[in-house]
Amino acid sequence: MTQPLRVAVTGAAGNIGYSLLFRLAAGDCYGPDQPIILQMLEIPPAMKAVEGVAMELDDAAFPLLHGIEFSDDPNVAFKDANQIFLVGSKPRSKGMERSDLIRENGPIFVGQGKAIQAVAASDVFVITVGNPCNTNCWIAMNNAPDVPNERFTAMTRLDENRAVAQLANKAGVQTTEVADMIIWGNHSATQFPDYKNATIGGTPAASRLDEAWLQGDFIKTIQQRGAQIIEARGASSAASAASAAVDHMRDAWHGTGDRMVSMAVPSRGNYGVPENTIFSFACRCTGRGGYEIVDGIEFDAFGRDKFATTLAELTEEASVVSDLV
Ligand code: NAD
Ligand code: LMR
Repeated sequence: MTQPLRVAVTGAAGNIGYSLLFRLAAGDCYGPDQPIILQMLEIPPAMKAVEGVAMELDDAAFPLLHGIEFSDDPNVAFKDANQIFLVGSKPRSKGMERSDLIRENGPIFVGQGKAIQAVAASDVFVITVGNPCNTNCWIAMNNAPDVPNERFTAMTRLDENRAVAQLANKAGVQTTEVADMIIWGNHSATQFPDYKNATIGGTPAASRLDEAWLQGDFIKTIQQRGAQIIEARGASSAASAASAAVDHMRDAWHGTGDRMVSMAVPSRGNYGVPENTIFSFACRCTGRGGYEIVDGIEFDAFGRDKFATTLAELTEEASVVSDLV
């Protein structure tokens, strides 16, 4: 029988956790033949709540769920973990930018990076969701110097999914018609949703949709969508974030073939982005956590300007938490 994968989720009693854990246990990420053991991490005041989540997971009698563990110690929750979802951290509230969270959330990723290095499985692969996710991922990666840098990734798949949905809605087609919609840079208001390579039904999006809309309202909507959700819901996106995390990790695990997806990963100097900056690139996943950054995509002056802006913001964020790495 297939060995269960050990899947750790931090912030397990939070809003994203409540959606994510049940998707994982149902087999939506690793497939219908892959059993998993869930290893949940929370902070001490949330241990009672996480116990309740564990009871509900038990009550769902998921055939693929071969174990449920929880702890308030990352050295326990990450023990032998193959796949880690770093979600636990404070969400922003109305009027804040994600980077306003950095001094509060950043330190969480110091201890968790160290714990990943100390106890996780040798094939560990990490997605960082907690905001500001690129910089938090960078902090964790730098605190786990013996773990290969490329195992640390951050989530811009929610932005990609949002962009795919906007393009499909505007063109009046299903989302399955949209391909190669890449997000560059930071998961923030400076991100660059690059419609230039995107296709709708196999033809360039820019030949089907008004370019003024693409350069204007479309980009702005994606950059501001998180804030719009907070405004409408009174809380940040949760189920769509969990769904995007499943998409990111499912593609990394199973591979994407020729399809390009957006993942924030450590730069290897691609496109002039300084090495190890956690930058969202176009990636092709080769499976079991392997991926390559797609090189050679060209930018016009508009794209180059957007690219430079989001890179500058990441450099600035890193300087604010340089003491944590
Ligand atoms: P939430 O407040 O509902 O839940 C967060 C949980 O994390 C809480 O249960 C809290 O107790 C726990 N936590 C806090 N510190 C922890 C630590 N050190 N170790 C383990 N757990 C800890 O928040 P949420 O809605 O689930 O959002 C979680 C994070 O995800 C936020 O930072 C949010 O901004 C971010 N987010 C990112 C994206 C993205 O696209 N990258 C999308 C949505 C939300
Ligand atoms: C999102 O994009 O919905 C999340 O990053 C939450 C937020 O703060 O916007």
